[in-house]
Amino acid sequence: MMGGLDGARRIMEREVSKPKNVGATIARFGRYFGRYWLILLLIAILIVGSTWTQVVAPELIGQAVDCYLFPRPGAVCTYTKDDARAIEARFRADQSLSEAERAEAIRNAKVSGLLGLAALLVLLFVGGSVMSGTMFFLMNWTGLHVLYNLRREVFQHMHRLSLRYYAENEVGNIMSRLTSDLETIQQTINFALISVTSGALLMVWIAIKMFQANVGYALLSLSMVPLMFVATLHFSTQARKAFRRSRQQMGNVNADLQESIAGVREVQAFSREEENIAEFMRVNAANRDANVRAASFTSALTPTLEALGFVALAIVVVVGGIAIFRDEPLFGTTISLGTVFAFLQYVQRFNQPIQQIALLWTNIQSAIAGGERIFGLLDTKPDFEDAPNARPMPLVKGTVEFVDVWAEYKKGQPVLRGINLRAEAGQTIAIVGPTGAGKTTLVNLIPRFYDVSGGAVLIDGVDVRDITLESLRSQIGIVPQDSFLFADTVMNNIRYGRLDATDEEVIAAAKLVAADQFIERLPNGYQTVLGERGAGLSQGQRQLIAIARAALKNPRILILDEATSSVDTRTERIIQNALEKLLRGRTSFVIAHRLSTIRNADLVLVVQAGQIVERGTHSELLAAKGAYYDLYMSQFRRQDQATSGSAPSQATAVTA
Ligand SMILES: Nc1ncnc2c1ncn2[C@@H]1O[C@H](COP(=O)(O)OP(=O)(O)OP(=O)(O)O)[C@@H](O)[C@H]1O
Ligand SMILES: [Mg+2]
Repeated sequence: MMGGLDGARRIMEREVSKPKNVGATIARFGRYFGRYWLILLLIAILIVGSTWTQVVAPELIGQAVDCYLFPRPGAVCTYTKDDARAIEARFRADQSLSEAERAEAIRNAKVSGLLGLAALLVLLFVGGSVMSGTMFFLMNWTGLHVLYNLRREVFQHMHRLSLRYYAENEVGNIMSRLTSDLETIQQTINFALISVTSGALLMVWIAIKMFQANVGYALLSLSMVPLMFVATLHFSTQARKAFRRSRQQMGNVNADLQESIAGVREVQAFSREEENIAEFMRVNAANRDANVRAASFTSALTPTLEALGFVALAIVVVVGGIAIFRDEPLFGTTISLGTVFAFLQYVQRFNQPIQQIALLWTNIQSAIAGGERIFGLLDTKPDFEDAPNARPMPLVKGTVEFVDVWAEYKKGQPVLRGINLRAEAGQTIAIVGPTGAGKTTLVNLIPRFYDVSGGAVLIDGVDVRDITLESLRSQIGIVPQDSFLFADTVMNNIRYGRLDATDEEVIAAAKLVAADQFIERLPNGYQTVLGERGAGLSQGQRQLIAIARAALKNPRILILDEATSSVDTRTERIIQNALEKLLRGRTSFVIAHRLSTIRNADLVLVVQAGQIVERGTHSELLAAKGAYYDLYMSQFRRQDQATSGSAPSQATAVTA
C-alpha cells in the first residue's frame, strides 16, 4: 500500500519542480519548431499587427474627442481628413448658404467625419480580431505538429529501451511523460506563449505611447502597476502552493483509487473495505481542503486587480480633469480631453495582461520542466544496440552455447556465475531450481534482453552480440511465465506471433496446440474480444493462446517459462500435448515445473544461486541422489503420483 502512495507522491512532486536548464531546453524545442520557421515568422508579424491595432485604438478615440466632440485649437488630427474646426471654417467661407443651411451642412459634415473615425475604429477591431484568431490557429497548428513529432519520437524511443530500463523506472512515471508532460507543453504552446508575448509587447508599446504623450501623467497613471504586480505575485504564489498541495493530494487520491481497483480481490479477501474507505475519505478530504484554499486565493486575485485598476482610472480622470479645469499645462504639456480619454483606454489595456502573464508564467515554467523530463527520457541511451558491424542472422540451425557466462543486474552483484552449457539443435533443455536461482535470467540472455557481463552466448557458433537484434529475436519464440494478452480478438492475439499470418494459419497453429477446442466454444469464437491483459480467460486458456502464438511464429529456438500455477489434470494433459508438438524439432529451453516436461527433456540443468550444480537426464539425476533428487522429492513426486492415477491424489487434483 505504502509503495504505491509514495510512488505517486514522488511523481507529483517532480511534476511541479522548476526547470534546471532553461536555455538548453528552449533551444532544443527551437529545433523542433525550426522547420516551421515561416509560419512562426507569420505569427510574429500577426502579433505585432494585432498589438498595433490595440495601441492605435486609444489614439483614435482621443482624436474623436479632440477633433469632433470637443474641438480645440491645435488638436492633432492624423486619422481624419478635416476636423470640426476645418469644416466650420470651410462652410463659413461659403457665402451662398443661408445661416440655417450652413448650420445643417456643418452638422452633417461633422457627423460624417465622426462616422468615418468610428468606421476606422471598427475596422481596427475587426482586423485585430482576425489577426489574433489567425495567429492562435497557426500556433495551434504548429504546436500540434511539433507535439505529434515529439510524441512519436518518445514512443519509438521507448521501444528501443531495454528491459533493464523498465525494471528500474516506474510505469506511472513513464506514462506521465507521455500524457501530462506533453499536455502541459501543448497548453503552453497553444495559448500561453502567444498570450505572454503579445501581452508583454502590448504593455511596452502602450507605455512608450504614454510616456511620449506626457511623462508625468504617464507615471501617475501607471502608479498602481507595482501594487498590481505585488498583489498578483502574492496571490498566485499562495494559490500555486495550495494547488501543489492539492495536486499531491490528488495523486494520493488517484493512487488510492488505482490500488483499490487493481487490488480489489485482495481488498475483499482480507476484508479491508472499511479501512480502505476510511483512508480514502481522509485523502479525499485533504484534497478538497487544499483545493478550497487554492480557490480562495484565485478568487481574491481578480477583484483585487479590478479594484486597483479602478483606482488607476480615477487617478487618470482626476489628474487630467484638474489640469483641464485650470487650463494649465500638466508637467509641461497641455492636456486635452482627448488625451484623458486616450489615457483611460491605455490604462485599461495595460492592466489586462498583468494577471495573464503572472498566471501563464507558471504554465510556461512547468512546460519547460516537462520538456526537460521528456528530453531526459529521449537522451536515455539504450543499454545496448546493434554493433556497428552487426550482421543479420542467417536461418538458425539451433545450437546454443553458453561459454563461462556471467550476468548481473547491479554492478558487482552477479546473478549468474560462470554458466557453461551446450544445447544441440533440436534438443530440449529443462531448467529447474529454487525460486530466485537465476533461471529466467539465464534464458533472457538468449534473445539478448540483457547482455552478459562476462563470457558469451553463441548461437550456431556466433556471438549474439554480433548479429542484429531484429534477426535474432525473429527466430526465437518465447512463452513467458505470465503471458501478456492484448485487449483484442483471440485471432489477433495469436497473430501477434507473426503479423502476416492468414486467418487459416492462425487457426492451424491453434489446432496444432489443441487450443482451438476452447476457442471455438467462446461466444464469438476467434473473434471474441478479450479484456485487458486477457481478462475473461482462465490462466490455462491464456497459456494455450500464448503457446499458439509461439507455434505460429514457428521459431528455430523456443523458450518456455512454465507457469507454476497448477491447472486441472485435463487442461494439464492438453497443455502437455500442445507443448510436445511445439517442442518437436526445435532447440528448446524450458524452465520446467511439470514433471512430464522434465522427463521428456534431453538434458536437465539444476540451477542454484546462479550456477549449474547438476546436469543429466531425469533418471541419471535421480540415481545420483543429489540436488535434483531433493528437488524431486519435495516438488515433483506429488505430480508423479497424480499422473500415475493413484486414488488419493486424483481426488486432490479434482478439488484443486
Ligand atoms: N530486473 C532485476 N533487477 C535486479 N535484480 C533482479 C532483476 N530480475 C531478477 N533479479 C534478481 O536476480 C536473481 C535471479 O532472478 P531470476 O528471475 O532469474 O530467478 P528465477 O530463477 O527465474 O526465479 P523464479 O523461479 O521465481 O522465476 C534474483 O535474486 C532476483 O532478485
Ligand atoms: Mg523466473
